[in-house]
Amino acid sequence: MKNNRIGQSIEEAAEALRKGELVGIPTETVYGLAANAYNVEAVSKIFEAKNRPTFDPLIVHTHHPKTFNHLVQEVPQKLLVLAEAYMPGALTLLLPKKDIIPDLVTAGSPRVAIRIPDHALTLALLASLDFPLAAPSANPFGYISPTQASHVAAQLGDKVSYLLDGGTCSVGIESTIVGLDEENEITVYRLGGISIEAIESIVGKVKMRAHALPSPEAAGMLENHYAPHKKMYLTKLVDFSPKANERVGAISFCKPYEQFAFCEVLSPTCDFKQAAQNLFQTMRYLDSLALDYIVAELLPEEGLGRAINDRLRKAATK
Ligand code: TXA
Ligand code: MG
Repeated sequence: MKNNRIGQSIEEAAEALRKGELVGIPTETVYGLAANAYNVEAVSKIFEAKNRPTFDPLIVHTHHPKTFNHLVQEVPQKLLVLAEAYMPGALTLLLPKKDIIPDLVTAGSPRVAIRIPDHALTLALLASLDFPLAAPSANPFGYISPTQASHVAAQLGDKVSYLLDGGTCSVGIESTIVGLDEENEITVYRLGGISIEAIESIVGKVKMRAHALPSPEAAGMLENHYAPHKKMYLTKLVDFSPKANERVGAISFCKPYEQFAFCEVLSPTCDFKQAAQNLFQTMRYLDSLALDYIVAELLPEEGLGRAINDRLRKAATK
């Protein structure tokens, strides 16, 4: 950690950001690695620190819809109702950007991803700044997203000038990304903390698409993501028996299984919200143990179960 600067000081975080430095910020979804979104030099430090290819665009965080007219040309009516329902929250909207948003932030796309995080410390930080924050999840590219300050400190601690410690993330998986497609229809580009059902309860049936990235090779590189260093396989746990000499860790939705060296249960009450909260920290924990590999089972394909399954599939060894 650079100078060991970790704590709850909004002033220290703001000062570092004003100087064009990187700051770790808490949100309700996952921790972000933030920089002044208007400052190209500061934003380029994010890509360097994460070892992230520049074709993978960044989400811009702001504290209030009143700032939208600085950032985007318009909020189409269809998306405005979603903004009203779920901002602040785990919803990111793809909107036509204004020139003030550097092309580096959007990877050259005319659309910028905008989010209002629902976390008191970060909302106060954003309100104290006269610029928005570009922030991807604060993990090395491809690894599991951080849901506690200690996760950020362990992997990117020496890259940030300050780490704002906001406790454990209450949602635990990234935001749901929504925009309009070529036919002007509401499309979900990434499953996340706001379920499809919650979105459809406001706007009716929506389309699903895996991503909205500028190039096909970009999409390919993002297939294996949210991944532990250990090999991880998807299987039905009840039918799976490790070989006698194998030490295997398992991630189960609600029941413990005895045949594994370690079996982590995401939610003893089979609650999707609790499972999402625990998912990434469970993957990190098992990744830290001396195990031969990890096995996980998929959840029912409904509600947040779908977003959790999306993360499990992307983390699984191809
Ligand atoms: O919950 C979250 O969304 C967290 C917190 C920190 O806000 N952020 C996050 O950022 O997950 P990141 O960079 O790990 O994932 C953002 C993804 C990109 O990989 C890309 O797929 C999509 O958002 N994205 C960002 N800007 C975009 C744009 N202009 N057009 C299309 N997709 C975009
Ligand atoms: Mg990420």
